[in-house]
Amino acid sequence: MILREMIEADLDAVLRIEREVHGHPWTLGNFSDALRSRYQCKVFESAGVMMGYAVMLLAVDEAELLDIAIDKAHQRKGIGRKLLEAMLSLARHESMRRMVLEVRASNQPAIALYRASGFEQIGLRRDYYPAANGREDAILMGKGL
Ligand SMILES: CC(C)(COP(=O)(O)OP(=O)(O)OC[C@H]1O[C@@H](n2cnc3c(N)ncnc32)[C@H](O)[C@@H]1OP(=O)(O)O)[C@@H](O)C(=O)NCCC(=O)NCCS
Repeated sequence: MILREMIEADLDAVLRIEREVHGHPWTLGNFSDALRSRYQCKVFESAGVMMGYAVMLLAVDEAELLDIAIDKAHQRKGIGRKLLEAMLSLARHESMRRMVLEVRASNQPAIALYRASGFEQIGLRRDYYPAANGREDAILMGKGL
């Protein structure tokens, strides 16, 4: 597996995955903005095939994981865990002290992945996300690096 910079030419493939795996996907504009800003936008590849991607913001000494996704066809093979590990390593390398993220309370696969990788709940934002039937809580999670 190779972690590399995401570039504009990746965005078709990124959006295909994003729309497949997220109920409320990021838009092309969201990814273009992230690429133009100082976000860490990475693609995870195996033999030239995109398995997934992640977007992270580095702020002073805290990394915020804004998006992480694995192509549906390649989920449950340990790739998400490896990609998260790669983002944690990158954050450590950039001298971050903590990684934080927000996850929908209903997103049990992601919550299980984060717990298995050492994240703990550090907060709750009630009715934070729009959802199919109204609103949904965000769980804030964090891990020291
Ligand atoms: C969350 C996500 C990145 C996990 O990627 P993945 O490659 O399938 O995960 P892995 O195979 O590395 O699994 C690692 C651990 O996560 C947990 N996990 C992953 N998928 C799960 C599922 N469907 N149900 C329960 N636990 C799950 C398990 O603890 C798993 O360990 P195990 O296989 O030893 O039981 C993937 O499901 C995804 O892209 N989801 C849609 C996007 C998303 O929700 N991103 C997070 C936004 S905050």
